[in-house]
This record gives sequence, structure tokens and C-alpha cells, in this order.
Amino acid sequence: MDSSPSSKISIKIITLGDSGVGKTCIMQRYCQDTFTESTLTTVGAEYHSKTINVNNKSVNLQVWDTAGQERYRAIAPSFIKKADVVLLTYAVDSRQSFEHVEIWLQQIKNNATEDICIILVGSKCDVEDRHVEYSEGETLAKRLGVEFFETSAKENINIDQVFMTATNKVIEKSEGPVDPKRATMRISTMNKDENGVGSGPGGNPGRRLKCCD
Ligand code: GTP
Ligand code: MG
Repeated sequence: MDSSPSSKISIKIITLGDSGVGKTCIMQRYCQDTFTESTLTTVGAEYHSKTINVNNKSVNLQVWDTAGQERYRAIAPSFIKKADVVLLTYAVDSRQSFEHVEIWLQQIKNNATEDICIILVGSKCDVEDRHVEYSEGETLAKRLGVEFFETSAKENINIDQVFMTATNKVIEKSEGPVDPKRATMRISTMNKDENGVGSGPGGNPGRRLKCCD
């Protein structure tokens, strides 16, 4: 794999989870370092982008923040199909959102590529009236074989860690057993659409990246 400072890769990340769990706030904290107490519910999906440098590589994170409301449920599959990473989110103050993780998992199972990376996120860990214990999230993540973080967009807890873990896992997998010739091909494909803001579900994702085991 070309590891010169100019090499660039793109990673598509989506949020999934019930309405109100704080998906938009996680995105805003990570991409803009802001937090709002009174957000508007997301309509359809919103696009955010952030470029970071990892091991001398420019990594363009293309983040699709999807709507959790039931009425938008039908559009989730198109985002899942193109995603390298899903941030599957529940809020620690909402038992129902934790129970609904299984429903979102079914959506992922039905639509994702087999190498998709799932990170389980228990949001709003700053709240006092918690309804989901840390150990419950941890146990679920272990059962699923995925990474787990409790986060707070409000107090900026573990937000960077979620995205860095996702990025590292995708890069590790793509650099591991992958034939270097194929890896180089993939990079050039990704470079072509790096300016394609809005190239989400309809865009060309290039070769799928390997991620979680
Ligand atoms: P949809 O767009 O409807 O799917 O909701 P969402 O998951 O994007 O939720 P959003 O980010 O809009 O947040 C919903 C509410 O939760 C807002 O009032 C936020 O201020 C609040 N919230 C989000 N993150 C946190 C957090 O880390 N801590 C606390 N205490 N509140 C939060
Ligand atoms: Mg939202």
C-alpha cells in the first residue's frame, strides 16, 4: 500500500439508532466541536466530512448522520449498503433505545456487506438518571463481537475515540492481508470521488474495505 504523505483514503461512516439518542450531537461534536441542547430532529440524512491524518495518510471521513424517526426507516438500507462503519447508537437514559438495538442490527444484517465495522455507542453517559448500565452495553458488544464506547457529546467524552477506533480498524484491515496492488487500485478509485460531497448512497464507494472480524 502506498504510504506516502500524499496517499488518501475515504471511509464512509453512518449513524444508526432511535430518534433522540444523540446521533447528530455526536457528529457535531466530532466535526465541529460544538454541542446544542435543543437540536432539530434529522430529516432523511445529513452529510458531514472531516479529513484527518493517520500514519502519514490523509483520511477523508464521510459521515452520514441518518434520521432515527420511524418514518425514515425505509431509507436506512441504502446508507447501510454503502457504509464501511456503522455507529450503532442508543442512549444510556433510554431503555427502549437499548432494546431497539436488535432491530437496527437486523437492518444491518439484511443490508450490509459482510465486512462492515460496527461500533456500539452508548450515548449521553453524562446523565444522572441512567437506565442502561455500562456492563449491559459491554456484554452486548462482546456478544456481537464489536467495539463499545459510552460517550457524551455534551461533555466531549470518548467522541474522538469512537472515530479513531473506526478509522484504525478500517485501515488495519485494508493494509493487512490485502494484495498491495489491489490496495493501490483502491486508493486511486477513492481519490476520484474525494470531492464528491453528497456521494453517499448513490456514490461509488470503490472496493469495499475490510473491517471488523
Ligand atoms: P434524530 O435526528 O431524530 O434521529 O435524533 P438524534 O439521535 O440525532 O438526536 P440529537 O442529536 O438531535 O439529540 C437529541 C437530544 O439529546 C438533544 O436535546 C440533545 O441536546 C440531547 N443530547 C445529545 N447528546 C447528548 C449528551 O451527550 N448528553 C446529554 N445530556 N444530552 C444529549
Ligand atoms: Mg439527528
